[in-house]
Amino acid sequence: MAQDSRLSSFWDMRYQQDVTPWESKQLPPDFSRLVQALIPDKKTVLVPGCGAAYEIDFLRQQGLSVSAIDFSEEAVFRARQHLGVHADLVTRADFFSDELSGMWDWVYERAFLCALPVSSWGAYAQKMSQLVKPQGHLAGYFFLRPTLKGPPFGTSLDQLKTLFQPWFTLQSQCPVSGSLPVFSPDESWLVWQRR
Ligand SMILES: C[S@@+](CC[C@H](N)C(=O)[O-])C[C@H]1O[C@@H](n2cnc3c(N)ncnc32)[C@H](O)[C@@H]1O
Repeated sequence: MAQDSRLSSFWDMRYQQDVTPWESKQLPPDFSRLVQALIPDKKTVLVPGCGAAYEIDFLRQQGLSVSAIDFSEEAVFRARQHLGVHADLVTRADFFSDELSGMWDWVYERAFLCALPVSSWGAYAQKMSQLVKPQGHLAGYFFLRPTLKGPPFGTSLDQLKTLFQPWFTLQSQCPVSGSLPVFSPDESWLVWQRR
C-alpha cells in the first residue's frame, strides 16, 4: 500500500480497500448543534479533502452554498454517488494547486489537516489564509494529540496557535464526545477567525 499521504494514490488505495477508519458514514458528533451556532452570518462553505462527504447534504440543507474538493478519484466517486442529484457540488482538485481559488465565509475542516504530514502544515495554513474571507472562519474538528507517526498526524492546541498565528485568531474551542476510536478522546471543535 502507498505510504506517502501527500499522494492521491495513498488515499485511492484506502478507499478501494475500505480501510477508512476516519469514516463514520454519518454526521460527526454534535455536528448539527455546532454548525447552527456558526452559520447565521454565512452564505458559503468550502469542504477541502471532503472524502465521501457525509456532511455536504446537511450543509446544503442549511441554505449554504457548498463547494467540496478532494484529489482522490475514489473519494470523489464515493461523494458523488452519495450526493446523487447534487453530485456537482464535488470537484476533483488538489487543495494546494492554483485550480483551487476563491474566498469562502467558512472553510470546514475534518480529518484533512491530520491527513497531511507535518511538513505540509505551513502550506496548509497559508492556503487557508487565501481561501477564508477576512472575518470569516476556518472551523471544524481538529485532532489534538501530539503523534510521532500518522496519518492521522495530531498536534497540540499551542502548536496550532503558532501555525495559524500570522492569519487567524482562535475564537472558540469545544471538546467533542462520541468521536470515532481513531480520534477519541482527542477531537475538538475549533473556530479560527481570519483577521
Ligand atoms: C482522512 S480523509 C478525511 C475525509 C473527510 N474529510 C472525512 O472527514 O471523512 C483525508 C482526505 O483528504 C484528501 N486529501 C489529502 N490530501 C489532499 C490534497 N492535497 N488535496 C485534496 N484532497 C486531499 C484525501 O484524498 C482524503 O479523502
